[in-house]
Amino acid sequence: DLEKILFLKKVESTQDVSKDWIRKYNFSPVIVASEQTKGRGQRNSLWQSYKGGLWFSLSLKNFSTFKDTLLPLMCSYAVLKSIENLTLHPMIKWPNDVMLLYKKVAGILVEKFNFNGEVYHICGFGINVNNEINIENIRYPAINLKSILKREINVNMLLFNILENFEKILENFSDIFFDTILKDINNKLFLKNEFIKIEKQNKIVYNAILDSIGSEGELIYILNGKYYSLFSGRIIF
Ligand code: BTN
Repeated sequence: DLEKILFLKKVESTQDVSKDWIRKYNFSPVIVASEQTKGRGQRNSLWQSYKGGLWFSLSLKNFSTFKDTLLPLMCSYAVLKSIENLTLHPMIKWPNDVMLLYKKVAGILVEKFNFNGEVYHICGFGINVNNEINIENIRYPAINLKSILKREINVNMLLFNILENFEKILENFSDIFFDTILKDINNKLFLKNEFIKIEKQNKIVYNAILDSIGSEGELIYILNGKYYSLFSGRIIF
């Protein structure tokens, strides 16, 4: 239910607050927090969540599994569209980061949560907006919107805009609609046609060329003239 939003001051992780709601009420509103003390990112990393950023989780109940692998992509696409509204040129880094000027501006964490025989997807959005970023504690280059736009961004307006975009993407989801989205994503794909290093089942693939994202959200790359698909893994950058 994306109509109801709960704003909280300080939590450990909005992902967990959302799960607590589901355990109690079989439902969770969108959970937004000004600050997180144990924000988490991909692969169990710590996600810096100082005041001024946009940290929220939304939950989807019994979301169709065929779109399952695409969900993180749909989330990052909604963020991409909202950032484009600020007249910036963000890019999507497969599978679900949003980049600006070769630095990470947003990350998505989707967790599956089974409760009472129902499946929930908890989608966590972390967007660096006006927050400080402690570069000493971060393993990759990161940036916030404020430093690029040279002004404070209204965090709540950004939130509403992302939710609106996300809802539109969910509602209109169909082959034709998705084709358009996929084209758009492939036009704004970070490191497209460049040499990349891929982590695949704990092995590293060197000298692959990033080709595109396929219709199931998979990464398509070229290695020694052959095409390969990757459903889970990451681009090392
Ligand atoms: C990543 O790129 O590693 C994913 C980052 C996801 C961070 C968001 S912030 C809101 C939600 N709560 C969390 O603890 N994590 C996600």
